[in-house]
Amino acid sequence: MEQDINIKITDREGNTHSIQAPTDMAMNLMEVVRSFELAEEGTIGVCGGMAMCASCQCYVLSDTQLPEMQDDEEAMLSEAFYVKDNSRLGCQIHITPELEGLEVELAPES
Ligand code: FES
Repeated sequence: MEQDINIKITDREGNTHSIQAPTDMAMNLMEVVRSFELAEEGTIGVCGGMAMCASCQCYVLSDTQLPEMQDDEEAMLSEAFYVKDNSRLGCQIHITPELEGLEVELAPES
């Protein structure tokens, strides 16, 4: 489907996966990681995508223009471990055509 976008995700073992994520299924980046089984079950998406656990934290490696962080994402990241300047919560990043070429690395499990 031409609705898919190309994303590169580096898992917690340091392996980079080139995947194609659908833009027409209302998925977020955390759900993409789960559906491609790039992180062990139970170690990502713990809060179900409510910006309340930071298990979906990732580092944005590309200069892709992402949607602004909302208050709850910012608040969660201010309490999370291993936070860097380029940290985002995967569950707050919705897969849209604008994200073509996105490259992220999963933050360590905390
Ligand atoms: S899944 Fe819990 S903060 Fe993203």
